[in-house]
Amino acid sequence: MKNKLIIANWKMNSTVTDALKFLAVFRHEMKGMTPCEVVLCPPFTCLYALGEAFEETPFKLGAQNMHWEESGAFTGEISSLFLKDLNVQYVLLGHSERRTLFGETDININKKLEQAIHQKITPVVCVGETDEEHKEGKTFAVLEHQIKKALDGQIRSELATMVWAYEPVWAIGTGKNATPDQAQEVISWMRTLLAKVLDDPTASTMRILYGGSVSAEKARGFLKQSDIDGLLVGGASLDPQKFANIVQSAQEQNA
Ligand code: PGA
Repeated sequence: MKNKLIIANWKMNSTVTDALKFLAVFRHEMKGMTPCEVVLCPPFTCLYALGEAFEETPFKLGAQNMHWEESGAFTGEISSLFLKDLNVQYVLLGHSERRTLFGETDININKKLEQAIHQKITPVVCVGETDEEHKEGKTFAVLEHQIKKALDGQIRSELATMVWAYEPVWAIGTGKNATPDQAQEVISWMRTLLAKVLDDPTASTMRILYGGSVSAEKARGFLKQSDIDGLLVGGASLDPQKFANIVQSAQEQNA
């Protein structure tokens, strides 16, 4: 079994002061635990301070987005080089809020994925169907489209370490999450698709997470599923106690 990966997506929440306070409580909660792999994705403005505060902790830093070019006239954008400079090891790509609220396209996600791999920043590509698509039975068709577009033209041998996050859009921030069985069914189907598009060893090495209204109470149910390699946590990751409980559930599965 793979080491479970738990990623916090803080979205547009937390000042530097909030982030450092969170870390102090979270470290206290985690005392004595050997955590599974834990990545925090704060807003860009917290990356430097959290990165410094992470020294001597096992936690890793992630970003919530990045541009596909290294530099240039792209006002307001963040380059992969800036992330590397701050020891950012993970980057979320194609989160549904980026897709729906900020016009993120499959083509952009494809270019960002290539750039992240080039910079050796581990990409976490988010995919998922909307409520309407879910009700119309289009889940697999939507996921197949998103996955194939992200992978188009990528070099297969470089993809095994990338991460996918299955996040049904209808479950994000709604409290209405998929059941562990539903998530397992979709994620296992994703792995079969990835084996067809890439190959078996790559598909089985890739980590696939579930995300969408994950709470401390529900985490264990997802983490027990054989194909679910970890969780992408939004709301519950802003509370250090709740997030520590989720990490603890993952740690129990590793043991
Ligand atoms: P949520 O967010 O846990 O608040 O639903 C998950 C995400 O958007 O990654």
